[in-house]
Amino acid sequence: MKRDFISLKSYTNAELAKLLDDASRLKKAKNRITNDLKGKTIGLIFQKPSNRTRVSFEVGIHQLGGNCIYLGPEEINLGKRETTSDVAHTLSRYLDGIVARTFSHQDVVELAKFSTVPVINGLTDLSHPCQAMADMLTIKEHFGKLKGIKMAYVGDGNNVCHSLMIICAKLGVHLTVAHPKGFAPLDKVCDAASEMAVDTKAKITVTTDPKEAVKGAQVIYADTWVSMGQEEEAKKRLKIFENYQINSKITASADKKYIFMHCLPAHRGQEVTEDIIDGPHSVIFDQAENRLHVQKAVLLRLLGKGKK
Ligand code: CP
Ligand code: NVA
Repeated sequence: MKRDFISLKSYTNAELAKLLDDASRLKKAKNRITNDLKGKTIGLIFQKPSNRTRVSFEVGIHQLGGNCIYLGPEEINLGKRETTSDVAHTLSRYLDGIVARTFSHQDVVELAKFSTVPVINGLTDLSHPCQAMADMLTIKEHFGKLKGIKMAYVGDGNNVCHSLMIICAKLGVHLTVAHPKGFAPLDKVCDAASEMAVDTKAKITVTTDPKEAVKGAQVIYADTWVSMGQEEEAKKRLKIFENYQINSKITASADKKYIFMHCLPAHRGQEVTEDIIDGPHSVIFDQAENRLHVQKAVLLRLLGKGKK
């Protein structure tokens, strides 16, 4: 049976931990070219722009000996030019795997349902699991562990926030999400995270108070206030999120050795000030690099010779 990588919820805690270990091993191997995906072709269906996701997947696939084809919004107009199920059936006859970045999460779910090859979620409006994996690898490298680390996510209860809530719950990281009223993470994600946190004893808290979230935090995480597809709401959002900026005033109450994280792309002067994102606590480019390593681990898990 093929396996997809669409939702972190479908992976056990042990499987996620193993993927992170595999990613560390791949990182140590220093981007050596292998034959693991020799003769395999992966399609990258992107309905939104991308720097990190596209480039890290393309480079990762190349390093594993495979090929990829980028299919931008002009080529595959999912659900408009033809149905998502026709796209999935057709591409399954050519490709060995699909990475998809879509607006609606349901599109990726449907692609997976109708395709016979593995589908990887490269970001939807609901979630960004590859990013959350890279974030966990970055935290683990920095602190030597994940369990018990205290993390604060300040901003929009969006795709990045949702995936962080699930992965923190599963891997035992305490996470407090601080969001403006009306921009909370979805109830269904909060419920799933609470349920998954029972085993690991991770504390997953949601508040509207950014100061409460950041106090004593070892990790402070920010994302854009205006996600892709929300451009028309930009003016309104920038005003609403004003008090949720990560700046030196708020970081003063964090743990002295805190790290600052951001999935990028970032907006200096909006969700974070320049002195913080470009300062000594920032690990943003380690996060960006780790996208490559965790995605290679996922590709090997789903498509490699030793796939389970
Ligand atoms: N963090 C991230 O997914 O970046 P891109 O949108 O550039 O792929
Ligand atoms: N929340 C952002 C993440 C970008 C990587 C967006 O969806 O645009």
